[in-house]
Amino acid sequence: MDYEQFKAPVYKLTHVDLDCYKERQMKRRIDALIQKHRLKGYEEFIEAITNDKNLFEEFMSYITINVSEFYRNPEQWRILESEILPNLIKNAKGKLKVWSAACSTGDEPYSLAMLIKDYLPTSEFSILATDLDLQIIEKAKVGVYGEKSLAGLPKKYKDKYFTKLGEKSYQISDEIKKCVTFQRHDLLKDVYPEPFDLILCRNVVIYFTDEAKNRIYTNFNKSLNKNGVLFVGSTEQIINYRELNYSSIKSFFYKKNSTEGLS
Ligand SMILES: C[S@@+](CC[C@H](N)C(=O)[O-])C[C@H]1O[C@@H](n2cnc3c(N)ncnc32)[C@H](O)[C@@H]1O
Repeated sequence: MDYEQFKAPVYKLTHVDLDCYKERQMKRRIDALIQKHRLKGYEEFIEAITNDKNLFEEFMSYITINVSEFYRNPEQWRILESEILPNLIKNAKGKLKVWSAACSTGDEPYSLAMLIKDYLPTSEFSILATDLDLQIIEKAKVGVYGEKSLAGLPKKYKDKYFTKLGEKSYQISDEIKKCVTFQRHDLLKDVYPEPFDLILCRNVVIYFTDEAKNRIYTNFNKSLNKNGVLFVGSTEQIINYRELNYSSIKSFFYKKNSTEGLS
């Protein structure tokens, strides 16, 4: 069995469509996992993940890559706070609606909740947080984090919204948990929720093919309100943003154009 043939049984078992992920990178990761477990090749690996729940879970976290942290790339969060959020709050019709897509362990949507709470009461904003991986969503809901995840978070938030649990772990407060609704959502397959004033999609499209990326950004464009903003990861600048009906307002921030250019 070669990598091409391997994709179909993987899809059947995991519902992850490897066709949408950059092949070289993904193949390298999977091959490393196969070697680590001293398996002979893709066929044996399929058999192993079918029968071994732990290996199946290890495989899922290998392909979904769910590393995250609070305030990841702090300088971009400062731009969000000082230059993007004030306009979004001013122009929001009713509640400010935010979506953190591919949210992993929740660090990103919880960071948003802390930041927005400085400007709005809880009743005036909502945050939807989604990920493909159900296990990671459960972890996010529990809200316990290690020291490393909190390293970039401003101290005022760490002091206000976390309780120390043990030597190096911290529990996020219910006050922040209440601001975030978690749901499973596959960016490659599911219908996109709407409407939103701000969408964050960071450090995930980097694994996808250009075709999949364009589809995702087009879908986000439809999910954004007029003048809504898309915030992307620090290696994920959108080169063809004009074609996709966005204006670039700052590095890593794209505003939906008011003219509906796309069907
Ligand atoms: C590296 S994490 C990014 C977390 C967070 N956005 C950040 O920047 O810190 C990537 C996340 O994307 C999720 N993911 C991978 N493929 C996905 C898909 N097709 N749909 C939704 N989420 C996906 C993974 O489960 C993982 O939690």
